[in-house]
Amino acid sequence: MALLPILRFPDPRLKKIASPVEKIDDGIRRLARDMAETMYEAPGIGLAATQVDVHRQVIVIDISEARDSLLVLVNPAIAARDGVQVCEEGCLSVPGIYDKVERAEHVTVRYLDLEGEMRTIDADGLLAVCLQHEMDHLQGKVFVDHLSQLKQTRIKAKLAKQARITA
Ligand code: NI
Repeated sequence: MALLPILRFPDPRLKKIASPVEKIDDGIRRLARDMAETMYEAPGIGLAATQVDVHRQVIVIDISEARDSLLVLVNPAIAARDGVQVCEEGCLSVPGIYDKVERAEHVTVRYLDLEGEMRTIDADGLLAVCLQHEMDHLQGKVFVDHLSQLKQTRIKAKLAKQARITA
């Protein structure tokens, strides 16, 4: 297992579009394990492969208090969505920034598990937000892309300042 470095917004590699996984092999299983370890260590409730500069459709999520309910989704796709919810989001690639984003309230997502079995998950609330947030990453989108231009400019300035302080 290994901790993977997480790309920071506005790194242009966060804009890359992830390609589908054609075969679930040991490489993909190792990637998923390393992503889970990286997410738990951060700590965060979700991580997309894009954030660790691997441009394949893999995400890991654990929204449980006990941190014992890992979900690994390969090639996730939204099959249905309805309703609207607004939730304050953050992102391991955008440290220290939180803002409200509008998402679907319910989503049905189809994906492959690490055995290559097709699965379906019906989610609402935080899990639905998390799924949409992580699937956005696979499309090269970060949650701040949902915010106004003015807010995005402010966030970039704030992160650049943080980077100078910690460099
Ligand atoms: Ni994120």
